[in-house]
Amino acid sequence: MSKPKMTVPARSFSTDRFLFGGDYNPEQWTEDVWLEDIELMRTAGVNAVTIGVFSWSLLEPREGEYSFGWMDRIVELLHGAGIGVILATPTASPPPWFSLAHPDALPVRPDGTRLTHGSRDTYAISAPAYREACRRIARALADRYGAHPALRAWHVHNEYGTFDHSDHASTAFRAWLRRRYRTLDALNAAWYTAFWSQSYTEWEQILPPRQTQYLHNPTQSVDFKRFCSDEMLDALREQSAEIRAAGSTAPITTNFMLPTWNHLEQWSWSAELDIVSIDHYLDTLTLDGETHAAYASDLTRSWAGQHPWLLMEQSTISSPMPGWRTHKEPDRMIRNSLSYVARGSQGAMFFQWRAPAAGSEVWHGGLVSHVGADSPGHRGVQELGRILGSIAEVADPPADGPVVDADVAILWHADGWWALENEHLPSDHLDYSDAVRSTHRALWRAGIPVDFVPPTGELGGYRLVLVPSMFPLSQAQAAALAAYAENGGTVVTWFFSGIADENMHVVPGGYPGVLRELLGVRVTELHPLDPAVTITLSDGSEAGIWSERVDPAGADVVTTYDDGEVAGLPAITRHAVGAGHAWYVSTRLEQKSLDRFVADLVHDLGVRPTVAGGDEELETVRRHGRNGTYLFILNHGSVPRTLRGAGVDLVSGSVVDDAITVAPRGVAVVRESGSPAWSVDSA
Ligand code: GAL
Repeated sequence: MSKPKMTVPARSFSTDRFLFGGDYNPEQWTEDVWLEDIELMRTAGVNAVTIGVFSWSLLEPREGEYSFGWMDRIVELLHGAGIGVILATPTASPPPWFSLAHPDALPVRPDGTRLTHGSRDTYAISAPAYREACRRIARALADRYGAHPALRAWHVHNEYGTFDHSDHASTAFRAWLRRRYRTLDALNAAWYTAFWSQSYTEWEQILPPRQTQYLHNPTQSVDFKRFCSDEMLDALREQSAEIRAAGSTAPITTNFMLPTWNHLEQWSWSAELDIVSIDHYLDTLTLDGETHAAYASDLTRSWAGQHPWLLMEQSTISSPMPGWRTHKEPDRMIRNSLSYVARGSQGAMFFQWRAPAAGSEVWHGGLVSHVGADSPGHRGVQELGRILGSIAEVADPPADGPVVDADVAILWHADGWWALENEHLPSDHLDYSDAVRSTHRALWRAGIPVDFVPPTGELGGYRLVLVPSMFPLSQAQAAALAAYAENGGTVVTWFFSGIADENMHVVPGGYPGVLRELLGVRVTELHPLDPAVTITLSDGSEAGIWSERVDPAGADVVTTYDDGEVAGLPAITRHAVGAGHAWYVSTRLEQKSLDRFVADLVHDLGVRPTVAGGDEELETVRRHGRNGTYLFILNHGSVPRTLRGAGVDLVSGSVVDDAITVAPRGVAVVRESGSPAWSVDSA
């Protein structure tokens, strides 16, 4: 099979070395600290900082009155030190004067509560005054700094994501719905408004899904999320247009927040960005944090069309989430950073350069902590700067082709997540994020590189396509999966996929509606399980949350249920389709069983791990560059690990004749000689 086509055009963003640095808030400090900062940045090898993210009230202290003096000075100081500037537009945090002058531009919750200023992200995205103020400040910044030689990129806004249910939102939502449905009849049909007397006879009757007496209309709820994403994208486009109108040609990005937020439909956003960038914070202190970093990276690289992307924020503490503000060992910070880079990030950026002295995020850490530069943490930062410098050649991306080569893809779309956030599903434990993440984790544990694809994406180059819980699927999307299998691909679909069409209407005649024919099954009863219950399958697998009555209609039974309501009936099936196969997994396999299922599947398909014999403590990733391939070896364990292969380790500068030993918690990045078949000596 040929390799998949890029889903978006090649980007203008490239760097001759990896970006290293983070958010920098000089406005919180006096100028003598700036000089110390710049000296420390130079020593640590920092080459890029993001400034201005939350500086609106200082840049424009009163409407239309700008105060750029401090920013002029810091930009010059940074430039003089050879440190690039990623300039943010500060629109995530409107100043108090703005909110007081335009109370209608504050966001409204579903229950009608209008928020007040005093934190951040207090904006109503559809409020005309807010949008105008955003355009104005973006233009003022672009006029002043758009051609500055220090400018590496524009960072528009910060983590778009505030939902608003105000009257401004109603107006914009209706306009969006008119574009989508054209007629009220079409909207009434799509929203199934015959149910509960919801038929609309005028567009003005339609509201965002505000607090109501009982359950919301599920199609309205998902449409509202689709609208919010599009509306925020419009806001980004407006700022980008101002930047370009001012003549600035620097690449434009905005930082997505992962993975706890699903406010945006990332495929459409990514297609409009010069750099796809994310903020990523580990969700656990355990080793599973490494799978989390890999998950975020693989998703983001995929949104970027398998091109390089940028890790805009990570943390020097394990997680900024409440309760987990725990120190991260410097060696882990280094391995995390290289994990993102191995999977295509053009750098390792952090939140933030210097930990603040006060304020609501006083405990969120920094490359320079409260303790100062004389600390083990900052020595780790300096070591990371050295390592990123030593692997600079890796940053040069391949002239064509993906930066990481994967034979396996997971279907991903925000619609799938939004659909499962609706109320009153057959189980309260259907979790899109968990379904996708556990599938990715199983592949990570098998050492297999993974891409993500949208339901409309090009599947042709993959050996295996996995579809965890994609509740809404259109006929066209189902047909694309079927064509892929017909042509020799293997598709694996999990329960609660393709049950409904894109409007969340259940497809009648047996589940899973649009996928029935492809899978060669007809599900006639759903048997959700109490989350405390574990059932077993005939191959010894353990499963939970879900079971169903699967009637084969052409598919072969691979595994049956051993217990539960459907004991003795099929649990996992396989259907021969043209030159390929379509599998159906009708329950939620426990992680260990899922790991085994996925490992067996890839093995049988001849999909090989990056390095044979790896395990959870030894992560290997191959990144492609213009002049060759680079094997990243991350030893997360506490014993040295030896791998057989050849090349040059760029981190230590040593030639690898036929083996390399990586120290406990250490890293190596080997420029490979030829196409070596690496293997691991047993631990
Ligand atoms: C990010 C955000 C930063 C900061 C950080 C705290 O999501 O972009 O501004 O709040 O979290 O860890």
